[in-house]
Amino acid sequence: MCGIVGYVGDKDCASLLVEGLRKLEYRGYDSAGLAVETSAGKVGVVRAVGKLANLDAALAKTPLSGKTGIGHTRWATHGRPSEANAHPHVAGNVAVVHNGIIENHVELRRGLEAAGVKFTSDTDTEIVAHLVHEEMGKKQGDFASSVRRALARLRGAYAIAIVCGDVPETILVAKNASPLVIGIGDGEMMAASDIPALLAHTRDVIFLEDGEMAVLEKKSATLSTLDGKPITRAPKRIDWSPAQAEKGGFKHFMLKEIFEQPRAIEDTLRGRIDVTAGEIVEEEIGVTATLAKKIARVYFVACGTSSHAAIAGRYWVEQLARIPATVEIGSEVRTREPVFGPGDLVVAVSQSGETADTLAAVRTAKAMGAHILAVANVLDSAIPRASDGALYTHAGPEIGVASTKCFTAQLAALLMLAVHLGRARGALSKEEARRILDALLAVPHAMRDALEEAEHVKNLARKYARARDMLFLGRGTGFPIALEGALKLKEISYIHAEGYAAGEMKHGPIALIDEEMPVVVVAPRDAHYEKTMSNLHEVRAREAQVIAVVSEGDKDVVGVDAIRVPVVEPEVLPLVTVIPLQLLSYFIADIKGTDVDQPRNLAKTVTVE
Ligand code: G6P
Repeated sequence: MCGIVGYVGDKDCASLLVEGLRKLEYRGYDSAGLAVETSAGKVGVVRAVGKLANLDAALAKTPLSGKTGIGHTRWATHGRPSEANAHPHVAGNVAVVHNGIIENHVELRRGLEAAGVKFTSDTDTEIVAHLVHEEMGKKQGDFASSVRRALARLRGAYAIAIVCGDVPETILVAKNASPLVIGIGDGEMMAASDIPALLAHTRDVIFLEDGEMAVLEKKSATLSTLDGKPITRAPKRIDWSPAQAEKGGFKHFMLKEIFEQPRAIEDTLRGRIDVTAGEIVEEEIGVTATLAKKIARVYFVACGTSSHAAIAGRYWVEQLARIPATVEIGSEVRTREPVFGPGDLVVAVSQSGETADTLAAVRTAKAMGAHILAVANVLDSAIPRASDGALYTHAGPEIGVASTKCFTAQLAALLMLAVHLGRARGALSKEEARRILDALLAVPHAMRDALEEAEHVKNLARKYARARDMLFLGRGTGFPIALEGALKLKEISYIHAEGYAAGEMKHGPIALIDEEMPVVVVAPRDAHYEKTMSNLHEVRAREAQVIAVVSEGDKDVVGVDAIRVPVVEPEVLPLVTVIPLQLLSYFIADIKGTDVDQPRNLAKTVTVE
């Protein structure tokens, strides 16, 4: 996730573009840059690492004056945050900003390098600049047709904005699977990844759809499909307040991020799965097949929500790769005198990549000879830097302190890791791998179905918002989902909640159950269904009110408040069953009026012991 902006009109645009980027900083903030047409045929570029204040300082030193320009604020996916990797990327007098992931970047880059192109960055985006430049050089047709030919060579997700010194006072924008909206002004046109960047200038916008492009000039926005068919689309008027717009019309970032999960999973899977071969693309996963064969134990370390993803990861690694696996929370690793050694693959799971306890555990394990794989959402953060390899989730920045989309992106990454290890070691057949990978690719669709229950969950939240305590139960990979459901509830609504393995209920928590203690049971149709149902009946027999997360079409669950999730393959169930629990916590917290995005006493990134 990155933020892009563009402007063409009569105003000097550098500061206007930076203001637009400021409204998009929630989409990325590790580096930023502008490209402005400073004189006929000339495009000037200024970039800086870090937050926008650094770009301001760079522009104070090297001002860019001109009335056509594009800008970018970056959330790194390919290539660490650095000035060289910051956008815009330039080839000749073509400058490009991009949000998304180009899947076939390796092969395109090899092709361009073989033709003599010298790259100045590690990004997938620079390829786009070179492709457009190459096509412009062929002088066949206009700017738009050159861009069309270049884009036809790309696979993946993009929203891009391009300026070219040879085509003054023009911006070209195009979109496939990443957002792009055009702002229609009076004698000026803008483009941006999201509406907040436009609202200071116009409320009339046109949303570009996948597979479309537009040529923006001062007084016109000419839309067409990527294969050249003209499109007419009337602008829409946006009446959101600036605060609403920042959250995409949602009341809180957390709710927005819950709804962003299908996209976060698509981005995390993108370019990493070869279904035909039943394999994961090795370069993307951070563990080679040779190393996979040597692993004697997988040891997950993580804190908070990430430790729940790690538990699911453990179950998958054991089931699919048949490697002994264990999970430990970071703070306990640094407290004990643990034993690690060669043969251990330590998987450090952390959305921020900065959590002090997880980092300390990584350093301990590394010093004892273990191989470390980081699963992180922030490129080049401390934990990946201290590790031997990294598997990045591509959830984009998460603003809500209580993690949602980063959690499900971690689940997707860990399931890919387990499949990869299983295939490399011969523990998982090609057919089984294909079944699981197909199911994983279908998760975004299933998540969208699960999200459609939001209104129903909101009604249940009204019923349960006054509870003082709640118990969450689950079995198998439903167990970490029960833990996560309980953690979400306590984090944001301050209701005391416990997650338990359903089978463990009889060893203690059952003593607490009465009509005052609502119990949430994660009970989809999986191999554990009947046993979980027995637990559900035990709870019902003690007068507790039950909320049950069940599979669509399950008619056997009666006398409970059921929330239905679509039927999916058992391995991907946790990615779907967690959604109603996230929504339940969110709506309960909202009813109680707590500070959902910044709950008391909690921090997004915990860099202290
Ligand atoms: C904090 C956050 C949690 C997060 C935990 C671990 O407590 O509030 O949402 O799960 O840290 O963070 P990490 O960045 O390592 O996943």
